Amino acid sequence: MEKNELVNYIKQLPKAELHLHIEGTFEPELMFEIAKRNNLSLAYDSVASLKKAYQFNNLQEFLDIYYIGAQVLLHEQDFYDLTWAYLQKIHQQNVVHTEIFFDPQTHTDRGVSFETVINGIYKALKDGQHQLGISFRLIMSFLRHLDESSAFETLKQALPFKDWIDGVGLDSSEIGNPPSKFERVFKQAADHGFKLVAHAGEEGPAEYIWEALDLLHVCRIDHGNRSIDDAKLVERLAQQQIPLTLCPLSNLELKVVQDLKEYPASKMLDKNLLITINSDDPAYFGGYLNENYIALTNNLSLTPDQIKQLAINSFKGSWLNEVEKNKWISEMEQLIPTKN
Ligand code: ADE
Ligand code: ZN
Repeated sequence: MEKNELVNYIKQLPKAELHLHIEGTFEPELMFEIAKRNNLSLAYDSVASLKKAYQFNNLQEFLDIYYIGAQVLLHEQDFYDLTWAYLQKIHQQNVVHTEIFFDPQTHTDRGVSFETVINGIYKALKDGQHQLGISFRLIMSFLRHLDESSAFETLKQALPFKDWIDGVGLDSSEIGNPPSKFERVFKQAADHGFKLVAHAGEEGPAEYIWEALDLLHVCRIDHGNRSIDDAKLVERLAQQQIPLTLCPLSNLELKVVQDLKEYPASKMLDKNLLITINSDDPAYFGGYLNENYIALTNNLSLTPDQIKQLAINSFKGSWLNEVEKNKWISEMEQLIPTKN
């Protein structure tokens, strides 16, 4: 297939997104608009100067700026607008299902109530379901640079909204904050019936992926790049078909990889790992879901079959029920005959 045919092929595929931080979809234009209506000033005098600051050498440099941006979110309407803007964006990209993270501690630590945050996000997700036909799951993520007691407190705050929250996750500064730090919190979350995921092996070692699996008992690994260093781990992930939510443009921008030509996705597919493609924090890393698929396809010369496999994996690895998963997968098989 020609390059532009491949791009069109990617665009028309129905896709699910499984690794997306809603605070990471905060586009500078909307950030300035919300800051203005909340009478807050940003440390940058224009959208252009803010965008210029989006140059990162590692995860921490990104997180420092990401948490500052989130500080202008104060009211339920702000969280609604943020989420609605993301849903409109992905609707244009044929993303039909999304499983999004939100970081309550980023907001509750500044005095914004848990209720304000979740009401805005959840109302937008429901509107997206009804008006745009996008199904969703919501994942509450604990900030791993904060302590265990803060995570326990957040879990307590979440309980009145248990019916709205499908799972819990673990994000923020990975190195020095291993999954083991949150073993007891994840146990309690599991007892409450939440599904479990964790960022592991983005910057941290393969050892953290083992911990996420064996101590936290997660059903999915966010990133998991470093698994490729450990043959035993690869064997386990393949054998149990544990999904990995890879984020190519994020990994490039945060220097997890130096070049997408070296991205481990083809190798992982060859090893029968259930990998999926995701955008992580698209407002900061230069692209939403289609741009991630396109960048990977261009750099790794992926075939239409491999691209389709990635889209199928996105449903397989999702928390949709089996009937819904099969509906999307068989629709894809019927609508889009494989062309190589
Ligand atoms: N929070 C938002 N994006 C993240 C990432 N890529 N890794 C860890 N924490 C995050
Ligand atoms: Zn992430």
